Amino acid sequence: MTTVDRLVGAGINRIDGPAKVRGTAPYAYEQDPGEPIAHLAVVQSTVNRGRITRLDPSGAEGMPGVVAVLTPANAPRLSGDLASDLPVLQSLDVHYQGQVVAAVVAETSEIAKAAVGAVVVEYAAEAPDVGLRTDRPDLYAPEKLMAGFDTDSVIGDVDGALAAAAVSIDATYETPTQHNNPIEMHTSMARWDGDSLTMWDANQGPHTILRDLRTGFDLDADQVRVISPYVGGAFGSKAFTHPNQMLAAMAARVTGRTVVFELSRQQMFSLVGHRTPTIQRMRLGADPEGRLSAISHEVVEHTSRISEFAEQTATPTRVLYAAPHRRTTHRLARLDVPPPTIMRAPGETPGMFALESAMDELAVALGIDPVELRIRNEPERDPERDVPFGERHLVECLRTGAERFGWAGRDLRPRMRTEGRWLVGTGVAAATYPTRRRRAQCRIAAEASGRYVVEIDGSDIGTGAWTALTQIAADALRTDLGSVELRIGDSRLPFAGGAGGSTGLASWGTAIVFTARDLRRQLDERYGGQVPDHGLTVDGEMPGESPAAKTHSLHAYGAHFVEVRVDADTGEVRVPRATSVYDAGTIVNAKTARSQLLGGFCMGVSMALHEESVIDERYGHYVNHDLAEYHVATNADIGEIDIAWLDVDEQRANPIGLKGIGEIGITGAAAAVANAYWHATGLRIRDLPITPDKYFRAEPALPAG
Ligand code: MOS
Repeated sequence: MTTVDRLVGAGINRIDGPAKVRGTAPYAYEQDPGEPIAHLAVVQSTVNRGRITRLDPSGAEGMPGVVAVLTPANAPRLSGDLASDLPVLQSLDVHYQGQVVAAVVAETSEIAKAAVGAVVVEYAAEAPDVGLRTDRPDLYAPEKLMAGFDTDSVIGDVDGALAAAAVSIDATYETPTQHNNPIEMHTSMARWDGDSLTMWDANQGPHTILRDLRTGFDLDADQVRVISPYVGGAFGSKAFTHPNQMLAAMAARVTGRTVVFELSRQQMFSLVGHRTPTIQRMRLGADPEGRLSAISHEVVEHTSRISEFAEQTATPTRVLYAAPHRRTTHRLARLDVPPPTIMRAPGETPGMFALESAMDELAVALGIDPVELRIRNEPERDPERDVPFGERHLVECLRTGAERFGWAGRDLRPRMRTEGRWLVGTGVAAATYPTRRRRAQCRIAAEASGRYVVEIDGSDIGTGAWTALTQIAADALRTDLGSVELRIGDSRLPFAGGAGGSTGLASWGTAIVFTARDLRRQLDERYGGQVPDHGLTVDGEMPGESPAAKTHSLHAYGAHFVEVRVDADTGEVRVPRATSVYDAGTIVNAKTARSQLLGGFCMGVSMALHEESVIDERYGHYVNHDLAEYHVATNADIGEIDIAWLDVDEQRANPIGLKGIGEIGITGAAAAVANAYWHATGLRIRDLPITPDKYFRAEPALPAG
């Protein structure tokens, strides 16, 4: 298998790079249907809860260039099987602010947007209920969490162990609502040919969108085609169907035109989901040497009135550290907010902020180095499932990271280093994310010329999947990169799940490897190892989770080391340098993987210092619904980041040995920043983001002496 070593692992340039740089890689908005495109714009509810009492579209209908106005009175009826906010324009009831109550189709986007202002809507509204609090009487336990995780887990006697512990921590951490903001806004272009629908769309997996369009419009599989070869970033909000795809298809059907709907940046804050805020109470009990006896992680978060989205926030606490007594719980409040969705390692990201902050607080209380504290609590087996781990090298990540970062000799006390006006500190946190894979199909056509066409409905949302999948395919087919033509991003291609949950490459790559093996076996058995003149096409199927997922606990791991500087006078926070070391299995493309891990860490800095959607509890809207006021870390906010990974592979998970890298990069990163902030200032900020005003909120706990 010498060719395997040749391509998988190499830092090959993106094969889609030249087309993207030249502007010849068409994104959804840039597709050319060969006819003039009509534009859609939406009227959105200004109340959170209530009913439309009057809706007069006549002002908009009379404007030159307006093609149609869709309202609940005239919009096509969608199937009653659609859930959440997908039955758009199907009733006069309002469930969240920003809900689409009418849509305008016009010859240009300018006309459509102007006409939106001419639609008159009146409501009978109730006061919005949008405040998440732990003392709400209506908190409830969902039946299951996202991705099938159990809602609660209880092992041993947590309260007894906490009461008996030599040292304990009891602290509550809060993370705010956050909104997905890929550079490319959600965009859907729809065209009907008779009873068949074609949609060019920005999403994380065409088959997911196809499923909901089929349901909504009652179509057979061959009556819908969703095409998304290039996607301008996606962090969860493009994983599932949202009202935008439904609206584009409805408008195209009504008008007989090709219709495009591109969300505005402001609309990204109401129509395509968000990350729930969290309130997390962490309790840790330990002996004087820092060995944990008890871990308790209780999570309160929100969902919407019309959907249940139960984020799996405390699940990393179930696997990261040993302790005989343990408890995790999740409770939800149903609020008058838009439906939350997945965003950048949903669950693990806010959950790891709480767990890894609490571990830092415990290290401080014990006077133990926080790296050492984590090493002392390394479990031998998965502490809740009671199965062995697969490859687990968290301790090596911590040790390697400490070495690369220059952790040795760090003063345990806070606020001990200054450089001019800057208070300087360092912090550490662990990272973890599950390793999984999902069912996928693949078709490979071998041609006598030596060329292979590899077809699978995977999607490249900017991660490098175009390139990494080609590398995997070329190795599996024992050929070179140039002999493989990869086709992805089209629901006409063999079925695959979307890019999400860090499962993309594991799922699609495994389907490709299985299919390639079958192809090579058939060539050997039937054609003496040669591709016949008429070629050979093989369809393959990878059924889903690895058998080892039942017998082993499979996860990626990492460790972040961060330096933080805080201006002693203004509270301004900078992150000049960081080191992250990962145990993420086989790294398929060293170049795109490094980019992805860099991006994940930057999102962690962004979460720690900037991102927060502020809701006005009186009026129920997100007041900072644009990038001028919803701050995302930019290049100027990021210093030197050192990314490294261990040379391990996880053959239990998939034949490539990879663990998935989409989400491990962000997990734990915000805690590392917050822990470094504490070390710099002596201030423990338990509610993100760490904005400059919080520096002035409390007096720092200064070291004794
Ligand atoms: Mo990722 S938040 O599972 O798209």
